[in-house]
Amino acid sequence: MRILSGIQPSGALHVGNYFGMMKPAIELQEKGDAFYFIANYHSMTSLFDAAERRKNTLDVALDFLACGLDPAKSVFFRQSDVPEVTELSWLLTTVTPMGLLERAHSYKDKIAKGISPNHGLFAYPVLMAADILIYDSNVVPVGRDQKQHVEMTRDIAAKFNEAYGETFVIPEPLIRDEVAVVSGTDGQKMSKSYGNTIEIFGDEKVLRKKVMSILMDSRTPQEPKPDAEKNLAIELLKLVAPPAVAKDLEDRLRAGGLGYGDLKKALFEQYWACFAEARRKRAELAANPGYVRQVLREGASRARTLAQKVLKRAKLACGLE
Ligand code: ADP
Ligand code: TRP
Repeated sequence: MRILSGIQPSGALHVGNYFGMMKPAIELQEKGDAFYFIANYHSMTSLFDAAERRKNTLDVALDFLACGLDPAKSVFFRQSDVPEVTELSWLLTTVTPMGLLERAHSYKDKIAKGISPNHGLFAYPVLMAADILIYDSNVVPVGRDQKQHVEMTRDIAAKFNEAYGETFVIPEPLIRDEVAVVSGTDGQKMSKSYGNTIEIFGDEKVLRKKVMSILMDSRTPQEPKPDAEKNLAIELLKLVAPPAVAKDLEDRLRAGGLGYGDLKKALFEQYWACFAEARRKRAELAANPGYVRQVLREGASRARTLAQKVLKRAKLACGLE
Protein backbone atom coordinates (compact mmCIF):
# COMPACT_ATOMS: atom_id res chain seq x y z
CA MET A 1 0.00 0.00 0.00
CA ARG A 2 1.41 3.39 -0.97
CA ILE A 3 0.44 6.30 1.27
CA LEU A 4 1.01 9.90 0.20
CA SER A 5 0.27 13.34 1.54
CA GLY A 6 1.59 16.88 1.29
CA ILE A 7 1.47 20.08 3.27
CA GLN A 8 2.10 23.63 2.10
CA PRO A 9 4.91 25.73 3.61
CA SER A 10 2.60 28.71 3.90
CA GLY A 11 2.94 29.42 7.64
CA ALA A 12 3.54 27.81 11.02
CA LEU A 13 1.73 24.49 11.44
CA HIS A 14 -1.17 24.36 13.91
CA VAL A 15 -2.96 21.71 15.92
CA GLY A 16 -5.59 21.38 13.14
CA ASN A 17 -2.83 20.37 10.75
CA TYR A 18 -1.42 18.05 13.39
CA PHE A 19 -4.57 16.12 14.28
CA GLY A 20 -6.16 16.33 10.81
CA MET A 21 -3.20 15.31 8.73
CA MET A 22 0.20 14.92 10.39
CA LYS A 23 -0.70 12.51 13.18
CA PRO A 24 -2.65 10.13 10.90
CA ALA A 25 0.17 10.34 8.36
CA ILE A 26 2.80 9.59 11.00
CA GLU A 27 0.81 6.61 12.30
CA LEU A 28 0.39 5.27 8.76
CA GLN A 29 4.13 5.15 8.15
CA GLU A 30 4.05 1.84 10.07
CA LYS A 31 1.43 0.40 7.71
CA GLY A 32 2.84 0.87 4.25
CA ASP A 33 5.12 2.65 1.91
CA ALA A 34 4.74 6.30 2.95
CA PHE A 35 5.62 9.38 0.86
CA TYR A 36 5.24 12.81 2.48
CA PHE A 37 6.26 16.08 0.92
CA ILE A 38 6.37 19.82 1.43
CA ALA A 39 4.15 21.37 -1.26
CA ASN A 40 6.32 24.39 -2.08
CA TYR A 41 5.03 24.68 -5.68
CA HIS A 42 1.49 24.91 -4.32
CA SER A 43 2.51 27.59 -1.84
CA MET A 44 3.39 29.82 -4.83
CA THR A 45 -0.31 30.31 -5.54
CA SER A 46 -0.70 32.37 -2.37
CA LEU A 47 2.72 33.31 -0.96
CA PHE A 48 4.95 35.71 -2.88
CA ASP A 49 7.96 36.09 -0.60
CA ALA A 50 11.00 33.95 -1.42
CA ALA A 51 12.71 34.27 1.96
CA GLU A 52 9.51 33.38 3.75
CA ARG A 53 8.96 30.31 1.57
CA ARG A 54 12.51 29.15 2.28
CA LYS A 55 12.10 29.66 6.01
CA ASN A 56 8.66 28.02 6.13
CA THR A 57 9.96 25.03 4.21
CA LEU A 58 12.66 24.37 6.79
CA ASP A 59 10.14 24.98 9.59
CA VAL A 60 7.63 22.50 8.17
CA ALA A 61 10.42 19.93 7.82
CA LEU A 62 11.46 20.49 11.45
CA ASP A 63 7.85 20.36 12.68
CA PHE A 64 7.10 17.14 10.86
CA LEU A 65 10.30 15.40 11.94
CA ALA A 66 9.85 16.59 15.53
CA CYS A 67 6.30 15.22 15.57
CA GLY A 68 7.48 11.75 14.63
CA LEU A 69 7.97 11.47 10.89
CA ASP A 70 10.74 8.92 10.66
CA PRO A 71 12.95 9.20 7.56
CA ALA A 72 13.90 5.54 7.97
CA LYS A 73 10.25 4.61 7.41
CA SER A 74 8.94 7.39 5.15
CA VAL A 75 10.20 9.12 2.06
CA PHE A 76 10.19 12.83 3.00
CA PHE A 77 10.96 15.46 0.37
CA ARG A 78 10.30 18.86 -1.16
CA GLN A 79 7.79 18.87 -4.00
CA SER A 80 10.01 20.97 -6.29
CA ASP A 81 12.87 18.49 -6.00
CA VAL A 82 10.78 16.21 -8.20
CA PRO A 83 10.10 18.57 -11.15
CA GLU A 84 8.52 15.66 -13.05
CA VAL A 85 5.21 16.49 -11.31
CA THR A 86 4.93 19.72 -13.27
CA GLU A 87 5.31 17.80 -16.53
CA LEU A 88 2.70 15.28 -15.49
CA SER A 89 0.48 18.16 -14.45
CA TRP A 90 0.42 19.34 -18.09
CA LEU A 91 -0.59 15.91 -19.33
CA LEU A 92 -3.40 15.84 -16.78
CA THR A 93 -4.57 19.38 -17.43
CA THR A 94 -5.50 18.37 -20.99
CA VAL A 95 -8.02 15.80 -19.75
CA THR A 96 -9.40 18.00 -16.93
CA PRO A 97 -12.80 19.55 -17.71
CA MET A 98 -13.02 23.28 -16.94
CA GLY A 99 -16.28 22.63 -15.10
CA LEU A 100 -14.52 20.32 -12.65
CA LEU A 101 -12.10 23.07 -11.62
CA GLU A 102 -14.86 25.69 -11.53
CA ARG A 103 -16.69 23.60 -8.95
CA ALA A 104 -13.73 23.40 -6.53
CA HIS A 105 -14.84 24.62 -3.07
CA SER A 106 -11.45 25.80 -1.97
CA TYR A 107 -11.09 27.93 -5.12
CA LYS A 108 -14.57 29.37 -4.74
CA ASP A 109 -14.00 30.08 -1.03
CA LYS A 110 -10.80 31.93 -1.76
CA ILE A 111 -12.39 34.11 -4.43
CA ALA A 112 -15.34 34.77 -2.13
CA LYS A 113 -12.83 36.08 0.43
CA GLY A 114 -11.66 38.61 -2.12
CA ILE A 115 -8.39 36.98 -3.11
CA SER A 116 -7.62 37.92 -6.70
CA PRO A 117 -7.00 34.51 -8.24
CA ASN A 118 -4.04 33.61 -10.44
CA HIS A 119 -4.08 30.75 -12.92
CA GLY A 120 -2.05 28.62 -10.48
CA LEU A 121 -4.79 28.85 -7.88
CA PHE A 122 -7.34 27.69 -10.44
CA ALA A 123 -5.12 24.86 -11.68
CA TYR A 124 -4.07 23.89 -8.13
CA PRO A 125 -6.12 20.64 -8.08
CA VAL A 126 -4.43 19.43 -11.28
CA LEU A 127 -0.97 19.79 -9.76
CA MET A 128 -2.28 18.04 -6.67
CA ALA A 129 -3.56 15.22 -8.88
CA ALA A 130 -0.09 14.95 -10.41
CA ASP A 131 1.44 14.78 -6.90
CA ILE A 132 -0.79 11.87 -6.03
CA LEU A 133 -0.77 9.96 -9.32
CA ILE A 134 2.96 10.19 -9.98
CA TYR A 135 3.67 7.91 -7.00
CA ASP A 136 0.93 5.35 -7.76
CA SER A 137 -0.62 6.34 -4.41
CA ASN A 138 -3.40 4.22 -2.95
CA VAL A 139 -4.25 6.21 0.16
CA VAL A 140 -4.14 9.96 0.83
CA PRO A 141 -4.53 10.97 4.52
CA VAL A 142 -5.92 14.53 4.72
CA GLY A 143 -8.36 16.70 6.67
CA ARG A 144 -11.91 17.02 5.34
CA ASP A 145 -11.22 20.28 3.50
CA GLN A 146 -9.03 18.33 1.06
CA LYS A 147 -11.53 15.59 0.31
CA GLN A 148 -12.87 17.22 -2.82
CA HIS A 149 -9.34 17.64 -4.18
CA VAL A 150 -8.73 13.91 -3.83
CA GLU A 151 -12.06 13.20 -5.50
CA MET A 152 -11.02 15.46 -8.37
CA THR A 153 -7.80 13.47 -8.62
CA ARG A 154 -9.86 10.32 -9.01
CA ASP A 155 -11.91 11.94 -11.79
CA ILE A 156 -8.82 13.20 -13.60
CA ALA A 157 -7.11 9.79 -13.38
CA ALA A 158 -10.23 8.07 -14.70
CA LYS A 159 -10.42 10.53 -17.64
CA PHE A 160 -6.80 9.86 -18.57
CA ASN A 161 -7.27 6.09 -18.23
CA GLU A 162 -10.38 6.33 -20.38
CA ALA A 163 -8.59 8.26 -23.12
CA TYR A 164 -5.26 6.40 -23.13
CA GLY A 165 -5.77 3.07 -21.38
CA GLU A 166 -5.08 1.96 -17.77
CA THR A 167 -2.21 4.19 -16.65
CA PHE A 168 -2.91 5.49 -13.16
CA VAL A 169 -3.85 3.94 -9.84
CA ILE A 170 -7.11 5.46 -8.51
CA PRO A 171 -6.44 6.78 -4.96
CA GLU A 172 -8.71 6.91 -1.89
CA PRO A 173 -8.84 9.82 0.57
CA LEU A 174 -8.41 8.77 4.20
CA ILE A 175 -10.22 11.07 6.59
CA ARG A 176 -10.57 10.42 10.30
CA ASP A 177 -14.02 11.49 11.38
CA GLU A 178 -13.06 12.49 14.90
CA VAL A 179 -10.48 15.02 13.67
CA ALA A 180 -11.86 15.84 10.23
CA VAL A 181 -12.32 19.48 11.17
CA VAL A 182 -10.51 20.87 14.22
CA SER A 183 -12.06 24.19 15.35
CA GLY A 184 -10.00 27.33 15.84
CA THR A 185 -10.16 29.84 18.70
CA ASP A 186 -13.23 31.52 17.12
CA GLY A 187 -15.15 28.31 16.43
CA GLN A 188 -14.57 28.29 12.65
CA LYS A 189 -12.29 25.65 11.06
CA MET A 190 -8.79 26.28 12.40
CA SER A 191 -6.86 27.67 9.45
CA LYS A 192 -3.79 29.78 8.79
CA SER A 193 -5.95 32.02 6.64
CA TYR A 194 -8.51 32.76 9.40
CA GLY A 195 -6.08 33.97 12.10
CA ASN A 196 -7.65 31.54 14.61
CA THR A 197 -4.83 29.03 15.01
CA ILE A 198 -3.03 27.49 17.95
CA GLU A 199 0.39 26.50 16.66
CA ILE A 200 2.10 23.23 17.55
CA PHE A 201 5.32 25.04 18.37
CA GLY A 202 6.13 28.57 19.42
CA ASP A 203 6.54 30.96 22.27
CA GLU A 204 4.82 29.81 25.45
CA LYS A 205 3.44 33.24 26.39
CA VAL A 206 2.00 33.87 22.94
CA LEU A 207 0.42 30.43 22.80
CA ARG A 208 -1.01 30.70 26.31
CA LYS A 209 -2.66 33.96 25.26
CA LYS A 210 -4.15 32.26 22.19
CA VAL A 211 -5.57 29.44 24.30
CA MET A 212 -7.00 31.95 26.79
CA SER A 213 -8.65 33.82 23.88
CA ILE A 214 -10.79 30.83 22.82
CA LEU A 215 -14.34 32.03 22.35
CA MET A 216 -16.81 31.22 25.16
CA ASP A 217 -20.36 32.37 25.89
CA SER A 218 -21.48 34.67 28.71
CA ARG A 219 -22.99 32.08 31.09
CA THR A 220 -21.80 32.31 34.70
CA PRO A 221 -19.47 29.63 36.15
CA GLN A 222 -22.25 28.30 38.40
CA GLU A 223 -24.72 27.62 35.60
CA PRO A 224 -24.89 23.98 34.46
CA LYS A 225 -23.90 23.56 30.80
CA PRO A 226 -25.88 20.67 29.30
CA ASP A 227 -24.14 21.30 25.95
CA ALA A 228 -20.63 20.92 27.45
CA GLU A 229 -19.51 18.62 24.63
CA LYS A 230 -19.87 21.52 22.18
CA ASN A 231 -17.56 23.81 24.16
CA LEU A 232 -14.48 24.67 22.06
CA ALA A 233 -12.03 24.09 24.93
CA ILE A 234 -13.58 20.67 25.62
CA GLU A 235 -13.30 19.78 21.92
CA LEU A 236 -9.58 20.62 21.97
CA LEU A 237 -9.05 18.91 25.34
CA LYS A 238 -10.33 15.67 23.86
CA LEU A 239 -7.52 15.85 21.33
CA VAL A 240 -4.61 16.77 23.60
CA ALA A 241 -5.46 15.30 27.03
CA PRO A 242 -5.76 11.74 28.34
CA PRO A 243 -9.44 10.69 27.93
CA ALA A 244 -10.06 10.54 31.71
CA VAL A 245 -8.83 14.13 32.22
CA ALA A 246 -10.97 15.44 29.34
CA LYS A 247 -14.01 13.56 30.65
CA ASP A 248 -13.58 14.89 34.18
CA LEU A 249 -13.44 18.51 32.96
CA GLU A 250 -16.39 17.96 30.63
CA ASP A 251 -18.46 16.50 33.52
CA ARG A 252 -17.56 19.41 35.79
CA LEU A 253 -18.47 21.94 33.11
CA ARG A 254 -21.78 20.21 32.51
CA ALA A 255 -22.63 20.14 36.22
CA GLY A 256 -21.79 23.83 36.72
CA GLY A 257 -19.14 25.35 38.99
CA LEU A 258 -16.18 25.23 36.61
CA GLY A 259 -15.36 28.68 35.18
CA TYR A 260 -14.20 29.16 31.60
CA GLY A 261 -10.91 30.73 32.74
CA ASP A 262 -10.01 27.65 34.79
CA LEU A 263 -11.09 25.38 31.96
CA LYS A 264 -8.83 27.18 29.51
CA LYS A 265 -5.92 27.11 31.97
CA ALA A 266 -6.35 23.34 32.23
CA LEU A 267 -6.49 23.10 28.44
CA PHE A 268 -3.28 25.05 28.11
CA GLU A 269 -1.45 22.74 30.57
CA GLN A 270 -2.63 19.64 28.71
CA TYR A 271 -1.78 21.07 25.30
CA TRP A 272 1.68 22.11 26.48
CA ALA A 273 2.32 18.64 27.93
CA CYS A 274 1.01 16.93 24.79
CA PHE A 275 3.76 18.48 22.65
CA ALA A 276 6.56 18.52 25.26
CA GLU A 277 8.50 15.64 23.75
CA ALA A 278 8.09 17.02 20.21
CA ARG A 279 9.33 20.43 21.43
CA ARG A 280 12.44 18.84 22.86
CA LYS A 281 13.09 16.98 19.63
CA ARG A 282 12.47 20.07 17.52
CA ALA A 283 15.07 22.06 19.44
CA GLU A 284 17.56 19.26 18.87
CA LEU A 285 16.82 19.13 15.12
CA ALA A 286 16.88 22.92 14.74
CA ALA A 287 20.47 22.88 15.95
CA ASN A 288 21.34 20.58 13.07
CA PRO A 289 19.87 21.98 9.82
CA GLY A 290 22.45 20.03 7.82
CA TYR A 291 20.78 16.80 8.92
CA VAL A 292 17.32 18.07 7.88
CA ARG A 293 18.64 19.08 4.45
CA GLN A 294 20.21 15.68 4.03
CA VAL A 295 16.93 13.92 4.91
CA LEU A 296 15.10 15.98 2.26
CA ARG A 297 17.83 15.34 -0.33
CA GLU A 298 17.74 11.60 0.19
CA GLY A 299 13.93 11.60 0.15
CA ALA A 300 13.90 13.53 -3.12
CA SER A 301 16.22 11.10 -4.77
CA ARG A 302 14.04 8.12 -3.80
CA ALA A 303 10.82 9.90 -4.80
CA ARG A 304 12.27 11.00 -8.11
CA THR A 305 13.20 7.48 -9.18
CA LEU A 306 9.58 6.38 -8.83
CA ALA A 307 8.18 9.59 -10.37
CA GLN A 308 10.33 9.15 -13.47
CA LYS A 309 9.05 5.63 -13.93
CA VAL A 310 5.38 6.62 -13.68
CA LEU A 311 5.83 9.71 -15.88
CA LYS A 312 7.43 7.52 -18.56
CA ARG A 313 4.44 5.17 -18.39
CA ALA A 314 2.08 8.13 -18.88
CA LYS A 315 4.12 9.56 -21.77
CA LEU A 316 4.14 6.20 -23.51
CA ALA A 317 0.40 5.82 -22.99
CA CYS A 318 -0.46 9.15 -24.62
CA GLY A 319 2.00 8.94 -27.49
CA LEU A 320 4.59 11.46 -26.33
CA GLU A 321 7.19 8.66 -26.41
P1 ADP B 1 -4.69 25.78 6.45
O1 ADP B 1 -6.18 25.74 6.28
O2 ADP B 1 -4.33 26.17 7.84
O3 ADP B 1 -4.00 26.61 5.39
P2 ADP B 1 -3.70 23.55 4.97
O4 ADP B 1 -4.71 23.78 3.92
O5 ADP B 1 -2.28 23.87 4.69
O6 ADP B 1 -4.17 24.31 6.30
O7 ADP B 1 -3.83 22.04 5.44
C1 ADP B 1 -2.80 21.10 5.57
C2 ADP B 1 -3.41 19.78 6.01
O8 ADP B 1 -3.97 19.91 7.32
C3 ADP B 1 -4.54 19.29 5.11
O9 ADP B 1 -4.51 17.88 5.03
C4 ADP B 1 -5.77 19.75 5.81
O10 ADP B 1 -6.89 18.98 5.49
C5 ADP B 1 -5.37 19.59 7.27
N1 ADP B 1 -6.08 20.58 8.09
C6 ADP B 1 -5.95 21.92 8.04
N2 ADP B 1 -6.74 22.55 8.92
C7 ADP B 1 -7.43 21.55 9.55
C8 ADP B 1 -8.42 21.54 10.59
N3 ADP B 1 -8.84 22.67 11.14
N4 ADP B 1 -8.89 20.35 10.98
C9 ADP B 1 -8.46 19.19 10.42
N5 ADP B 1 -7.53 19.13 9.45
C10 ADP B 1 -7.01 20.29 9.02
N1 TRP C 1 -3.58 20.88 -1.01
C1 TRP C 1 -3.00 20.32 0.17
C2 TRP C 1 -3.25 21.29 1.34
O1 TRP C 1 -3.33 22.47 1.18
C3 TRP C 1 -1.52 20.10 0.03
C4 TRP C 1 -1.22 19.11 -1.03
C5 TRP C 1 -0.62 19.34 -2.23
C6 TRP C 1 -1.51 17.71 -0.98
N2 TRP C 1 -0.50 18.18 -2.94
C7 TRP C 1 -1.04 17.17 -2.21
C8 TRP C 1 -2.12 16.89 -0.04
C9 TRP C 1 -1.19 15.80 -2.50
C10 TRP C 1 -2.28 15.53 -0.34
C11 TRP C 1 -1.80 15.00 -1.56
O2 TRP C 1 -3.32 20.84 2.44
